[in-house]
Amino acid sequence: MFILNSSQMKEIDRKASQEIGIPEVVLMENAGFCVFEEIRKDFETLDDKNIAVFCGKGNNGGDGFVVARYLAQVCPNVKVFLFDENVTLTSKVFLDILKRLEVDVSILSEELLLSLKTQRFDIIVDAIFGIGLSKEIDGLYKEAIEYINGSGAYVYSVDIPSGICSDSAQVKGCAVKANKTVTFVYPKIGNILYPGSYYCGKVIVKDIGIPEKIIKDIKVKILTAEDLDISRFYRFPDSHKGDYGKVGIVAGSKYYPGAAVLCSNAAVQSGCGLCYLITPQEALYFQNLRKPEIIVLPLEGKEGVISFDSFVKFNEYLAKLDVLGFGCGLTRDLEVEKILIHILENFQIPIVIDADGLNTLSSSPKARELLASYKSQKVLTPHYMEAARVLDVDVKDVAKSPIDAAKKIASEFRAICVLKGSRTIITDGDMVFINVLGNPGMAKGGSGDVLTGIILSMIAQGYSAFEAAKLSVYLHSLSADILLEKKTMQTILPSDIIEGLNSAIRRLIE
Ligand code: APR
Repeated sequence: MFILNSSQMKEIDRKASQEIGIPEVVLMENAGFCVFEEIRKDFETLDDKNIAVFCGKGNNGGDGFVVARYLAQVCPNVKVFLFDENVTLTSKVFLDILKRLEVDVSILSEELLLSLKTQRFDIIVDAIFGIGLSKEIDGLYKEAIEYINGSGAYVYSVDIPSGICSDSAQVKGCAVKANKTVTFVYPKIGNILYPGSYYCGKVIVKDIGIPEKIIKDIKVKILTAEDLDISRFYRFPDSHKGDYGKVGIVAGSKYYPGAAVLCSNAAVQSGCGLCYLITPQEALYFQNLRKPEIIVLPLEGKEGVISFDSFVKFNEYLAKLDVLGFGCGLTRDLEVEKILIHILENFQIPIVIDADGLNTLSSSPKARELLASYKSQKVLTPHYMEAARVLDVDVKDVAKSPIDAAKKIASEFRAICVLKGSRTIITDGDMVFINVLGNPGMAKGGSGDVLTGIILSMIAQGYSAFEAAKLSVYLHSLSADILLEKKTMQTILPSDIIEGLNSAIRRLIE
């Protein structure tokens, strides 16, 4: 499913009316009717309900007038509150109809809003702002939104909750907290990314009759099972371990031995043929937790951290690998930079860079430059903080426009960027996929190491870096969601996510 920004939606609306000739009033009528239908489905009866419809002066308010008209046909207690009589031309058509039908329409004022505090509404429709919200909300708008949020009513937002920016998903001062949001054509970014997604409640997407053929060049999609290539999960009967690839993982230190264990356990669990773990000897005290299938190449560390001199002894192993993972639990020691530069200067293996590998990129112009011109496939897996370091911006800037941040990283390094968060973003710099699976139980140290291991394994099994990133993000979250059926969020561990991969893969392929 595609995801739109406000200018794409406006362009789609424009084409539908100006090029195809579907009148704007028809689209508004359809939109309003879709919202009404959703409300009617949710309640056995509406005639005993007190309903308020708050309408802004833009076309979102116009959708609200249509909802109010249908509601008034089945319910005697519908009140429409209008912020400004000076509405758009299309909206005016429906406002005039409401007036002719003698539906209760009032212009909202502070006094009126105050008097509403003694009334109880069962249902409130929020049609104040849609994709046209352009600035911070204040004054009467703010008071009305606070009233709606404190009303105890079941709240429907039309298109997007008022106060949520449809392009960034950020709250513009304050926002309606809806129970349900009915959006049109495709979801908007503000319906999918956080915090907007939280304010939407359940998101329902409705077709309002815009022909599919005018919706072109949309480059942002929700990641679904249909976007995944599962062909490589079927193993040929006469295959051998060499067919499923060799993963190498450079990870771990005395301080973070678990990162190496989680990353390599995830790699073998998700199907690679062989997995080599290159880790300092001092990081080996988790022997019992590491899967025995992992081939450990211990190297002499320097005070518990990987050392360049001992790393280069493994050059011959590196040359045989199908993919190399670099970064989990390595620390920010200067030796790490030397090793990354050595790899980038001397090998041409697909590489997945995580954690301290990414931190090295933020502090080493040379590593950065080498990675940008490195010819093999590359995947970078930053969380927001790591992305901010790589881009040398504040983490708040990444949070405000994570899609742009991920695309920037992908473009600079000519890599696949997996920007990890509550909605992980996967991009090659052009096409963007947003993962909507997963749950807050995954918010735990070690989750990212597991994801890196899965990506490595998928690349080793022959998937391209982009396909591997999409599949791995999906399976990682699906595994956590399946666990949530049996566990609490608090008790989901990254190591459980590894154990759950089998069920996740089964659910995906069956
Ligand atoms: N405070 C006050 N007024 C504002 C603010 C604000 N913070 N932000 C925007 N406005 C005003 C704009 O000047 C404009 O008049 O609100 C109006 C924008 O309203 P919308 O209904 O959000 O935008 P519009 O483009 O008219 O309609 C888009 O129509 O197709 C439907 O519901 C669908 O979201 C979509 C909407």
